[in-house]
Amino acid sequence: MQTAKAAAAKAALDHIEEGSILGVGTGSTVNCLIDAIGESGLRLQGAVASSVGTEKRLKAIGIDLLDLNSTGTLDLYIDGADETNPALELIKGGGAALTREKIIAGASAKFLCIVDKSKQVNVLGAFPLPVEVIPMARSFAARELLKLGCDPEYRDGVITDNGNVILDCYRFNIANPKELEHAVNAIPGVVTVGLFALRGADALLVGHDDGNTELIDAQGG
Ligand code: A5P
Repeated sequence: MQTAKAAAAKAALDHIEEGSILGVGTGSTVNCLIDAIGESGLRLQGAVASSVGTEKRLKAIGIDLLDLNSTGTLDLYIDGADETNPALELIKGGGAALTREKIIAGASAKFLCIVDKSKQVNVLGAFPLPVEVIPMARSFAARELLKLGCDPEYRDGVITDNGNVILDCYRFNIANPKELEHAVNAIPGVVTVGLFALRGADALLVGHDDGNTELIDAQGG
């Protein structure tokens, strides 16, 4: 799996413009991307990071960190995913960075998602859907999520970079990802849900165990 992640990450280098500002996601596949950028000598004007962990890694390879409030729209955001369906709608947040990831994805002209083959599914939902919740709303939000038809579980011991908690929703029937994204986001106390359907990926780079990659765009071409 590591070979597949590294292959997708390396292939993503061809999509990054020299001297640009890059949005950078979070997770083990993105860590491969950061390593690949460091090894390639690619020069960036800077990067906007989706987590404190990513910030540290970018700093370590000498990339300047920029504030999204001063960059304007980014040309490109690159991030991993926990699951992707054929429409390139995603589940994200396994690493608890979903809110900042969704902000940067929304603020970017293009979202390139990099995954290993195991992340491709026909229907989203085998991976428990993460929901970031303000701490005082934890029990209330869990009861509301239960009403929407899932089994929410508190991710014990995890505090997000925004000071919030995560509820992982098991056994959600995600027949209509966009509708569910609206419904979960409407619960008071929910900061965001790890469904990326209203703003899914524009393109997907899939890495295989033999080191090959394939590029799929959101139109399925
Ligand atoms: C982080 O919160 C997530 O959204 C990650 O993008 C996702 O969990 C993918 O992580 P890996 O690249 O480690 O599989």
